[in-house]
Amino acid sequence: MTTIPRQAAPPTGGPRSRVHKVLDVIDERLGIGALEYPVPEHANNLAWSLGGITAGALGILIVTGVVLVQFYSPVPESANESVRNIVTGVWGGSFVRGLHFWASQAMYVTALLHLVRVILTGSYKKPREGNWLIGVGLFGLVTLAVFTGTVLKWDQEGFEALGHNLEIGKLMGGVGLWFSPQFADRVPILVRLYGAHVVIVPGLIIVLVTLHGLLVKRHKISPHPQLPTDASGVQAPTEEPTEPFTHHLRRIATFTLGLFGLLGILAVLWPPEVGPSPVAGIEVTKPPWNFWWLFTLEDWWGLSAILYGELAFFALLAILPFVDRNPNRLWRRRPVVMSVVLVVILVLAALTALLGVTPAKQHLGM
Ligand code: HEM
Repeated sequence: MTTIPRQAAPPTGGPRSRVHKVLDVIDERLGIGALEYPVPEHANNLAWSLGGITAGALGILIVTGVVLVQFYSPVPESANESVRNIVTGVWGGSFVRGLHFWASQAMYVTALLHLVRVILTGSYKKPREGNWLIGVGLFGLVTLAVFTGTVLKWDQEGFEALGHNLEIGKLMGGVGLWFSPQFADRVPILVRLYGAHVVIVPGLIIVLVTLHGLLVKRHKISPHPQLPTDASGVQAPTEEPTEPFTHHLRRIATFTLGLFGLLGILAVLWPPEVGPSPVAGIEVTKPPWNFWWLFTLEDWWGLSAILYGELAFFALLAILPFVDRNPNRLWRRRPVVMSVVLVVILVLAALTALLGVTPAKQHLGM
Protein backbone atom coordinates (compact mmCIF):
# COMPACT_ATOMS: atom_id res chain seq x y z
CA MET A 1 0.00 0.00 0.00
CA THR A 2 1.34 3.42 -0.90
CA THR A 3 1.57 5.77 2.06
CA ILE A 4 1.33 9.50 1.71
CA PRO A 5 4.19 11.32 3.45
CA ARG A 6 2.99 13.91 5.95
CA GLN A 7 4.08 17.43 5.14
CA ALA A 8 6.89 18.50 7.44
CA ALA A 9 6.43 22.19 6.68
CA PRO A 10 3.79 24.43 5.12
CA PRO A 11 3.97 24.84 1.30
CA THR A 12 5.71 28.21 1.64
CA GLY A 13 8.67 26.48 3.30
CA GLY A 14 8.58 29.08 6.08
CA PRO A 15 8.23 28.38 9.79
CA ARG A 16 5.14 26.35 10.78
CA SER A 17 2.19 28.53 11.63
CA ARG A 18 0.61 28.43 15.08
CA VAL A 19 -2.39 26.52 13.65
CA HIS A 20 -0.10 23.86 12.17
CA LYS A 21 1.76 23.58 15.47
CA VAL A 22 -1.52 23.07 17.34
CA LEU A 23 -2.54 20.43 14.76
CA ASP A 24 0.82 18.69 15.23
CA VAL A 25 0.27 18.58 19.00
CA ILE A 26 -3.21 17.12 18.55
CA ASP A 27 -2.01 14.66 15.91
CA GLU A 28 0.80 13.44 18.12
CA ARG A 29 -1.74 12.52 20.78
CA LEU A 30 -4.77 11.35 18.75
CA GLY A 31 -3.08 9.96 15.62
CA ILE A 32 -5.40 11.88 13.26
CA GLY A 33 -2.66 11.75 10.59
CA ALA A 34 -3.43 8.05 10.18
CA LEU A 35 -6.59 9.17 8.34
CA GLU A 36 -4.44 10.32 5.43
CA TYR A 37 -4.34 6.84 3.91
CA PRO A 38 -4.88 6.81 0.13
CA VAL A 39 -8.27 6.19 -1.49
CA PRO A 40 -8.88 5.98 -5.25
CA GLU A 41 -10.15 9.13 -6.92
CA HIS A 42 -13.51 7.63 -7.93
CA ALA A 43 -14.45 7.44 -4.22
CA ASN A 44 -14.90 11.22 -4.40
CA ASN A 45 -17.68 11.43 -6.97
CA LEU A 46 -21.24 12.01 -5.78
CA ALA A 47 -22.50 8.45 -6.36
CA TRP A 48 -19.68 6.97 -4.25
CA SER A 49 -20.14 9.64 -1.56
CA LEU A 50 -23.79 8.79 -0.87
CA GLY A 51 -22.90 6.57 2.12
CA GLY A 52 -20.93 9.46 3.65
CA ILE A 53 -23.80 11.89 2.98
CA THR A 54 -26.17 9.41 4.69
CA ALA A 55 -23.84 9.50 7.70
CA GLY A 56 -23.96 13.34 7.52
CA ALA A 57 -27.78 13.25 7.59
CA LEU A 58 -27.54 10.95 10.63
CA GLY A 59 -25.39 13.58 12.34
CA ILE A 60 -28.02 16.29 11.67
CA LEU A 61 -30.74 13.95 13.01
CA ILE A 62 -28.84 13.28 16.23
CA VAL A 63 -28.15 16.97 16.94
CA THR A 64 -31.72 18.10 16.21
CA GLY A 65 -33.11 15.03 18.04
CA VAL A 66 -31.17 15.97 21.19
CA VAL A 67 -32.83 19.44 21.08
CA LEU A 68 -36.34 18.00 20.51
CA VAL A 69 -35.98 15.54 23.43
CA GLN A 70 -35.75 18.56 25.79
CA PHE A 71 -39.30 19.64 24.94
CA TYR A 72 -41.14 16.45 23.94
CA SER A 73 -43.33 14.56 26.40
CA PRO A 74 -43.82 10.85 25.54
CA VAL A 75 -46.86 10.45 27.82
CA PRO A 76 -50.01 9.81 25.73
CA GLU A 77 -51.99 12.51 27.60
CA SER A 78 -49.56 15.30 26.65
CA ALA A 79 -47.50 14.00 23.68
CA ASN A 80 -49.49 15.73 20.93
CA GLU A 81 -49.72 19.00 22.85
CA SER A 82 -45.95 18.96 23.51
CA VAL A 83 -45.24 18.65 19.77
CA ARG A 84 -47.56 21.55 18.97
CA ASN A 85 -45.87 23.53 21.76
CA ILE A 86 -42.45 22.86 20.16
CA VAL A 87 -43.80 24.44 16.97
CA THR A 88 -45.51 27.47 18.49
CA GLY A 89 -44.08 27.96 22.00
CA VAL A 90 -40.37 27.11 21.79
CA TRP A 91 -37.97 29.61 20.25
CA GLY A 92 -36.62 28.04 17.01
CA GLY A 93 -38.65 24.90 17.76
CA SER A 94 -40.47 24.85 14.42
CA PHE A 95 -37.14 25.15 12.56
CA VAL A 96 -35.43 22.39 14.56
CA ARG A 97 -38.44 20.10 14.17
CA GLY A 98 -38.51 20.87 10.44
CA LEU A 99 -34.79 20.11 10.15
CA HIS A 100 -35.26 16.83 12.01
CA PHE A 101 -38.17 15.78 9.79
CA TRP A 102 -36.45 16.70 6.51
CA ALA A 103 -33.16 15.13 7.63
CA SER A 104 -35.05 11.88 8.25
CA GLN A 105 -36.41 12.04 4.70
CA ALA A 106 -32.94 12.86 3.36
CA MET A 107 -31.36 9.97 5.26
CA TYR A 108 -33.97 7.54 3.94
CA VAL A 109 -33.49 8.74 0.34
CA THR A 110 -29.67 8.88 0.44
CA ALA A 111 -29.48 5.41 2.10
CA LEU A 112 -31.76 4.10 -0.67
CA LEU A 113 -29.69 5.75 -3.42
CA HIS A 114 -26.49 4.45 -1.78
CA LEU A 115 -28.00 0.95 -1.80
CA VAL A 116 -28.87 1.31 -5.50
CA ARG A 117 -25.30 2.54 -6.26
CA VAL A 118 -23.86 -0.49 -4.46
CA ILE A 119 -26.10 -2.74 -6.59
CA LEU A 120 -25.28 -0.94 -9.89
CA THR A 121 -21.52 -1.19 -9.30
CA GLY A 122 -21.75 -4.80 -8.02
CA SER A 123 -20.02 -3.68 -4.82
CA TYR A 124 -21.87 -6.29 -2.72
CA LYS A 125 -19.82 -9.08 -4.32
CA LYS A 126 -16.98 -11.00 -2.64
CA PRO A 127 -15.50 -10.03 -0.18
CA ARG A 128 -18.16 -7.43 0.72
CA GLU A 129 -21.17 -9.73 1.32
CA GLY A 130 -20.95 -9.22 5.12
CA ASN A 131 -20.92 -5.45 4.77
CA TRP A 132 -23.88 -5.68 2.40
CA LEU A 133 -25.82 -7.55 5.13
CA ILE A 134 -24.88 -4.86 7.67
CA GLY A 135 -26.19 -2.32 5.13
CA VAL A 136 -29.47 -4.23 4.80
CA GLY A 137 -29.77 -4.13 8.61
CA LEU A 138 -29.08 -0.39 8.51
CA PHE A 139 -31.81 0.21 5.95
CA GLY A 140 -34.24 -1.76 8.17
CA LEU A 141 -33.28 0.43 11.14
CA VAL A 142 -33.67 3.66 9.13
CA THR A 143 -37.18 2.46 8.13
CA LEU A 144 -37.96 1.69 11.80
CA ALA A 145 -36.74 5.16 12.82
CA VAL A 146 -39.10 6.81 10.29
CA PHE A 147 -41.97 4.64 11.55
CA THR A 148 -41.42 5.22 15.30
CA GLY A 149 -40.92 8.95 14.68
CA THR A 150 -44.31 9.12 12.95
CA VAL A 151 -46.04 7.56 15.98
CA LEU A 152 -44.45 10.05 18.41
CA LYS A 153 -46.47 12.99 17.01
CA TRP A 154 -49.52 11.28 18.52
CA ASP A 155 -51.90 12.83 16.01
CA GLN A 156 -54.32 10.81 13.88
CA GLU A 157 -51.57 9.68 11.48
CA GLY A 158 -49.28 8.58 14.32
CA PHE A 159 -52.11 6.87 16.20
CA GLU A 160 -53.24 4.89 13.15
CA ALA A 161 -49.60 3.93 12.44
CA LEU A 162 -49.43 2.54 15.99
CA GLY A 163 -52.73 0.68 15.39
CA HIS A 164 -51.11 -1.07 12.42
CA ASN A 165 -48.02 -1.77 14.53
CA LEU A 166 -50.10 -3.45 17.25
CA GLU A 167 -52.00 -5.62 14.75
CA ILE A 168 -48.76 -6.65 13.01
CA GLY A 169 -47.26 -7.47 16.45
CA LYS A 170 -50.19 -9.87 16.99
CA LEU A 171 -49.59 -11.48 13.58
CA MET A 172 -45.98 -12.10 14.57
CA GLY A 173 -47.12 -14.26 17.51
CA GLY A 174 -44.53 -14.59 20.33
CA VAL A 175 -41.94 -12.58 18.36
CA GLY A 176 -44.35 -9.63 18.35
CA LEU A 177 -44.83 -9.59 22.15
CA TRP A 178 -42.68 -6.44 22.53
CA PHE A 179 -45.15 -4.55 20.33
CA SER A 180 -48.13 -5.43 22.53
CA PRO A 181 -49.30 -3.27 25.46
CA GLN A 182 -49.18 -6.46 27.64
CA PHE A 183 -45.35 -6.58 27.43
CA ALA A 184 -45.08 -3.96 30.18
CA ASP A 185 -48.61 -3.06 31.23
CA ARG A 186 -47.53 -0.18 33.50
CA VAL A 187 -45.61 1.61 30.75
CA PRO A 188 -47.66 3.05 27.85
CA ILE A 189 -46.49 1.63 24.52
CA LEU A 190 -45.90 5.21 23.32
CA VAL A 191 -43.21 5.57 26.02
CA ARG A 192 -41.55 2.33 24.89
CA LEU A 193 -41.68 3.38 21.23
CA TYR A 194 -40.12 6.69 22.30
CA GLY A 195 -37.32 4.72 23.98
CA ALA A 196 -36.89 2.76 20.74
CA HIS A 197 -36.81 5.98 18.67
CA VAL A 198 -34.31 7.89 20.81
CA VAL A 199 -32.09 5.12 22.22
CA ILE A 200 -32.48 1.61 20.79
CA VAL A 201 -32.78 2.35 17.05
CA PRO A 202 -30.17 5.17 16.84
CA GLY A 203 -27.86 3.19 19.18
CA LEU A 204 -28.01 0.17 16.86
CA ILE A 205 -27.56 2.45 13.82
CA ILE A 206 -24.39 3.92 15.36
CA VAL A 207 -23.01 0.45 16.18
CA LEU A 208 -23.75 -0.85 12.66
CA VAL A 209 -22.46 2.32 10.93
CA THR A 210 -19.19 1.91 12.88
CA LEU A 211 -18.85 -1.74 11.78
CA HIS A 212 -19.86 -0.73 8.23
CA GLY A 213 -17.13 1.93 8.09
CA LEU A 214 -14.48 -0.39 9.58
CA LEU A 215 -15.28 -3.02 6.93
CA VAL A 216 -15.12 -0.41 4.13
CA LYS A 217 -11.66 0.49 5.45
CA ARG A 218 -10.62 -3.18 5.69
CA HIS A 219 -11.81 -4.18 2.18
CA LYS A 220 -10.95 -0.77 0.68
CA ILE A 221 -13.55 0.98 -1.45
CA SER A 222 -14.61 -1.33 -4.30
CA PRO A 223 -12.74 -0.62 -7.55
CA HIS A 224 -14.61 1.23 -10.28
CA PRO A 225 -16.40 -1.40 -12.43
CA GLN A 226 -15.25 0.28 -15.63
CA LEU A 227 -11.60 -0.38 -14.82
CA PRO A 228 -10.14 -3.44 -16.56
CA THR A 229 -10.75 -6.94 -15.21
CA ASP A 230 -8.66 -10.06 -15.82
CA ALA A 231 -9.91 -13.18 -17.65
CA SER A 232 -11.74 -14.51 -14.57
CA GLY A 233 -13.65 -11.25 -14.26
CA VAL A 234 -11.68 -10.14 -11.18
CA GLN A 235 -10.65 -6.52 -11.14
CA ALA A 236 -7.03 -6.06 -12.21
CA PRO A 237 -4.80 -3.75 -10.15
CA THR A 238 -5.03 -0.33 -11.74
CA GLU A 239 -3.07 2.85 -11.97
CA GLU A 240 -5.98 5.04 -10.86
CA PRO A 241 -4.63 8.04 -8.94
CA THR A 242 -5.31 8.20 -5.20
CA GLU A 243 -6.04 10.99 -2.76
CA PRO A 244 -5.70 11.11 1.03
CA PHE A 245 -8.87 9.95 2.81
CA THR A 246 -8.92 13.31 4.62
CA HIS A 247 -9.68 14.97 1.24
CA HIS A 248 -12.62 12.59 0.86
CA LEU A 249 -13.81 13.51 4.37
CA ARG A 250 -13.58 17.21 3.46
CA ARG A 251 -15.73 16.54 0.41
CA ILE A 252 -18.32 14.65 2.46
CA ALA A 253 -18.36 17.57 4.93
CA THR A 254 -18.99 19.98 2.00
CA PHE A 255 -21.82 17.80 0.64
CA THR A 256 -23.31 17.58 4.16
CA LEU A 257 -23.11 21.36 4.55
CA GLY A 258 -24.96 21.77 1.23
CA LEU A 259 -27.56 19.23 2.42
CA PHE A 260 -27.92 21.15 5.69
CA GLY A 261 -28.63 24.36 3.73
CA LEU A 262 -31.23 22.60 1.60
CA LEU A 263 -32.91 21.04 4.65
CA GLY A 264 -32.95 24.46 6.34
CA ILE A 265 -34.80 25.94 3.34
CA LEU A 266 -37.29 23.05 3.36
CA ALA A 267 -37.79 23.42 7.13
CA VAL A 268 -38.74 27.08 6.65
CA LEU A 269 -40.83 26.73 3.48
CA TRP A 270 -42.53 23.37 4.22
CA PRO A 271 -42.54 22.72 7.97
CA PRO A 272 -43.93 19.24 8.75
CA GLU A 273 -47.54 19.15 9.85
CA VAL A 274 -48.91 17.92 13.14
CA GLY A 275 -52.65 17.32 13.52
CA PRO A 276 -54.75 17.51 16.70
CA SER A 277 -54.94 14.69 19.30
CA PRO A 278 -56.14 11.41 17.76
CA VAL A 279 -59.64 9.96 17.79
CA ALA A 280 -59.81 6.21 18.50
CA GLY A 281 -61.88 3.86 16.31
CA ILE A 282 -61.58 5.70 12.98
CA GLU A 283 -59.09 5.23 10.12
CA VAL A 284 -58.80 8.26 7.88
CA THR A 285 -55.09 8.88 7.23
CA LYS A 286 -52.41 7.53 4.95
CA PRO A 287 -48.94 6.65 6.28
CA PRO A 288 -45.75 8.53 5.28
CA TRP A 289 -44.87 7.94 1.59
CA ASN A 290 -42.06 5.56 2.58
CA PHE A 291 -44.76 2.97 3.41
CA TRP A 292 -47.22 3.65 0.59
CA TRP A 293 -46.22 0.57 -1.45
CA LEU A 294 -46.99 -1.61 1.57
CA PHE A 295 -50.37 0.04 2.08
CA THR A 296 -51.40 -0.67 -1.51
CA LEU A 297 -50.67 -4.34 -0.73
CA GLU A 298 -52.74 -3.94 2.45
CA ASP A 299 -55.64 -2.51 0.42
CA TRP A 300 -55.56 -5.64 -1.75
CA TRP A 301 -54.78 -8.43 0.72
CA GLY A 302 -55.34 -7.08 4.22
CA LEU A 303 -53.05 -6.16 7.07
CA SER A 304 -50.84 -9.27 6.91
CA ALA A 305 -49.61 -8.10 3.47
CA ILE A 306 -47.63 -5.33 5.22
CA LEU A 307 -45.70 -7.90 7.26
CA TYR A 308 -45.13 -10.33 4.38
CA GLY A 309 -44.35 -7.54 1.88
CA GLU A 310 -41.70 -6.04 4.17
CA LEU A 311 -40.22 -9.48 4.96
CA ALA A 312 -40.07 -10.36 1.24
CA PHE A 313 -38.36 -7.02 0.42
CA PHE A 314 -35.63 -7.45 3.05
CA ALA A 315 -35.19 -11.18 2.28
CA LEU A 316 -34.68 -10.31 -1.40
CA LEU A 317 -32.03 -7.75 -0.46
CA ALA A 318 -30.32 -10.13 1.96
CA ILE A 319 -29.95 -13.02 -0.50
CA LEU A 320 -28.71 -10.88 -3.41
CA PRO A 321 -24.93 -11.47 -2.99
CA PHE A 322 -25.49 -15.20 -2.50
CA VAL A 323 -27.67 -15.84 -5.56
CA ASP A 324 -25.82 -13.50 -7.94
CA ARG A 325 -22.81 -15.62 -8.98
CA ASN A 326 -21.90 -13.49 -12.03
CA PRO A 327 -18.33 -12.25 -11.35
CA ASN A 328 -18.78 -9.15 -13.58
CA ARG A 329 -19.40 -5.86 -11.84
CA LEU A 330 -20.19 -3.62 -14.81
CA TRP A 331 -24.00 -3.29 -15.08
CA ARG A 332 -24.02 -3.99 -18.84
CA ARG A 333 -22.52 -7.44 -18.28
CA ARG A 334 -25.11 -8.38 -15.62
CA PRO A 335 -28.40 -8.43 -17.57
CA VAL A 336 -30.27 -10.85 -15.23
CA VAL A 337 -29.67 -8.96 -11.95
CA MET A 338 -30.17 -5.59 -13.66
CA SER A 339 -33.54 -6.74 -15.12
CA VAL A 340 -34.74 -8.09 -11.74
CA VAL A 341 -33.67 -4.87 -9.98
CA LEU A 342 -35.41 -2.74 -12.62
CA VAL A 343 -38.64 -4.77 -12.28
CA VAL A 344 -38.53 -4.49 -8.45
CA ILE A 345 -37.97 -0.70 -8.63
CA LEU A 346 -40.83 -0.26 -11.14
CA VAL A 347 -43.22 -2.41 -9.07
CA LEU A 348 -42.39 -0.49 -5.86
CA ALA A 349 -42.80 2.85 -7.67
CA ALA A 350 -46.14 1.76 -9.20
CA LEU A 351 -47.48 0.51 -5.83
CA THR A 352 -46.37 3.80 -4.24
CA ALA A 353 -47.99 5.93 -6.96
CA LEU A 354 -51.20 3.90 -6.71
CA LEU A 355 -51.66 4.74 -3.03
CA GLY A 356 -51.10 8.39 -3.90
CA VAL A 357 -54.31 8.36 -5.95
CA THR A 358 -56.34 6.03 -3.69
CA PRO A 359 -58.34 7.40 -0.71
CA ALA A 360 -57.49 6.10 2.80
CA LYS A 361 -59.34 2.89 3.64
CA GLN A 362 -60.39 1.05 6.79
CA HIS A 363 -58.18 -1.96 7.67
CA LEU A 364 -57.85 -2.08 11.44
CA GLY A 365 -60.18 -4.32 13.42
CA MET A 366 -61.33 -6.08 10.25
C1 HEM B 1 -27.20 4.40 7.77
C2 HEM B 1 -27.04 4.01 6.53
C3 HEM B 1 -25.69 3.85 5.82
C4 HEM B 1 -24.52 4.57 5.98
C5 HEM B 1 -24.28 5.74 6.90
C6 HEM B 1 -23.56 3.98 5.06
C7 HEM B 1 -22.25 4.45 4.88
C8 HEM B 1 -21.36 3.94 3.94
C9 HEM B 1 -20.12 4.56 3.55
C10 HEM B 1 -19.59 5.88 4.08
C11 HEM B 1 -19.53 3.77 2.60
C12 HEM B 1 -18.26 4.09 1.80
C13 HEM B 1 -18.58 4.32 0.30
C14 HEM B 1 -19.79 5.08 -0.12
O1 HEM B 1 -20.11 6.11 0.49
O2 HEM B 1 -20.48 4.67 -1.09
C15 HEM B 1 -20.38 2.61 2.44
C16 HEM B 1 -20.10 1.52 1.62
C17 HEM B 1 -20.90 0.39 1.49
N1 HEM B 1 -22.21 0.30 1.89
FE1 HEM B 1 -23.15 1.60 3.12
N2 HEM B 1 -24.13 2.94 4.41
C18 HEM B 1 -25.43 2.83 4.83
C19 HEM B 1 -26.37 1.93 4.35
C20 HEM B 1 -26.12 0.90 3.45
C21 HEM B 1 -27.12 0.07 2.86
C22 HEM B 1 -28.62 0.25 3.07
C23 HEM B 1 -26.45 -0.85 2.09
C24 HEM B 1 -27.03 -1.96 1.28
C25 HEM B 1 -28.02 -2.70 1.64
C26 HEM B 1 -25.03 -0.60 2.21
C27 HEM B 1 -24.00 -1.35 1.65
C28 HEM B 1 -22.71 -0.94 1.50
C29 HEM B 1 -21.64 -1.69 0.87
C30 HEM B 1 -21.73 -3.11 0.30
C31 HEM B 1 -20.51 -0.85 0.86
C32 HEM B 1 -19.13 -1.16 0.23
C33 HEM B 1 -19.23 -0.54 -1.17
C34 HEM B 1 -17.96 -0.26 -1.85
O3 HEM B 1 -16.88 -0.60 -1.35
O4 HEM B 1 -18.07 0.29 -2.96
N3 HEM B 1 -24.87 0.51 3.01
N4 HEM B 1 -21.50 2.75 3.25
